[in-house]
Amino acid sequence: MALSKLGQTLTALEILELVKSDLERVEREINLESVASVDVATTIARHLQSGGGKRLRPILVLLASKLVGGVTDSSIRLAAVVEMIHTATLVHDDVIDTAKTRRGRPSSNTIWGNHTCVLAGDWLYMQAFHIALRERNFHVLDLLIALTQMMVEGELLQLELIGKINISEADYMELVDRKTASLFSACAKLGALTGGADEATEARMGEFSWNLGIAFQLVDDVLDFTSHEKVLGKPVGSDLREGKVTLPVIYALEDATAEERGMVETVLKDANYERVRFSKILGMIERHRGFERVRERAQAFTDKARSIVTEFPESPYQRALTALTDLVTERDH
Ligand code: IPE
Ligand code: IPE
Ligand code: MG
Ligand code: MG
Repeated sequence: MALSKLGQTLTALEILELVKSDLERVEREINLESVASVDVATTIARHLQSGGGKRLRPILVLLASKLVGGVTDSSIRLAAVVEMIHTATLVHDDVIDTAKTRRGRPSSNTIWGNHTCVLAGDWLYMQAFHIALRERNFHVLDLLIALTQMMVEGELLQLELIGKINISEADYMELVDRKTASLFSACAKLGALTGGADEATEARMGEFSWNLGIAFQLVDDVLDFTSHEKVLGKPVGSDLREGKVTLPVIYALEDATAEERGMVETVLKDANYERVRFSKILGMIERHRGFERVRERAQAFTDKARSIVTEFPESPYQRALTALTDLVTERDH
């Protein structure tokens, strides 16, 4: 069900209200822990942290903890850990994608250069693990290490597929699983674990958040075409320009004409929209219902996520998690 713009904003505010004070503790933890002995690593971490960001991953940790019992000091620390891991992936990702903008500001690679950013990203990963290690909990480390490897493997796989037009939906879904859903899943699991849940509940929360993460990335790949740079904080049309054939394009190509296919090939080859205008690609995807079909697919994952949340007893946190699933599909950035 589509929420009105006003309803959406209120829901977002309501969710934030529930976790506001805990989220402030998470921010303090990140601030405190983002200090390196070499200034530039600290500066890069701060650049990303102060540049905005939805803080969706720490919010998931906190809400999952609240749903099952309550936020503990461990929940706060691990919420900081997941946001730091996310930040590290963004620093590296912008190097890999030669991105110019992130969170509406120049990306760190454009300011400090690739060499420094690779090392700063490494530092951030290790600092996140350093904090996680303080939990003295092998299960937590297991989860975080497996997750980080999944994500890095996802980026490696994506590199292999760069510039290729014949990507299958299965290839694409594997990337989405690795790049995004695995971290979402880990967030809810860590939240449940630190909130005192048993293993079965932790796994169920992981499943909830995995579905949410898949939907989140599907919507992200639609927004890459349909949003505006001012709203998104990064340029539109980036995926195709970077050589990434995402689901809206995969669907459109299924029944595109040879000429339309040729347009996509040209953009992939040129890595710009000079010979084929961005509006041409947009029109082509729209003609073949690419965005609609991806949104429907995303909706199926959010429906699944929502149905898992309803298994939990009624509470404000249960409602907040349900609202979050709506926000993910209805969001504009
Ligand atoms: C960006 O994630 C990377 C993707 C998985 C698309 P977000 O859209 O959550 O980024 P921030 O943290 O809000 O900037
Ligand atoms: C997101 O990858 C970063 C990771 C989850 C590793 P993308 O390259 O698809 O995302 P954006 O568009 O740069 O945020
Ligand atoms: Mg990128
Ligand atoms: Mg990338």
